[in-house]
Amino acid sequence: MIGRLNHVAIAVQNAGKASDTYRDILGAKISAPQDLPEHGVRVVFVELPNTKIEFLEPLGVNSPIAKFLERNPDGGMHHICYEVTDIRAARDRLVAGGARVLGDGEPKIGAHGNPVLFLHPKDFLGTLTELEEVPA
Ligand code: CO
Repeated sequence: MIGRLNHVAIAVQNAGKASDTYRDILGAKISAPQDLPEHGVRVVFVELPNTKIEFLEPLGVNSPIAKFLERNPDGGMHHICYEVTDIRAARDRLVAGGARVLGDGEPKIGAHGNPVLFLHPKDFLGTLTELEEVPA
């Protein structure tokens, strides 16, 4: 069911500083920062040949990553994202298998303009897991 690894997300206090580190030290290609107020984050993508790294910086007072950064003040791996071709079919299969979908279970539009869902980390080896619908 799952397809390509779309991205690995790293929560950071400052996405600009994180980007500078990846650009200057690792020689990575960096996207322009994007504010996603509906998700409570600012995102920057590191574009790698085979996947992406997503830096997540808290945006606003109720950012969903604020607690994570309290526990991980230096930043840390926040989630991984796999591509699926039909997100509602994927969700129905996961729910039938006993996995928990976060929120109201309805896909939201993510940073790439595609529908995304998050799966409970306790059901996936302690790792918050995102599914993103990418047409085949
Ligand atoms: Co993500």
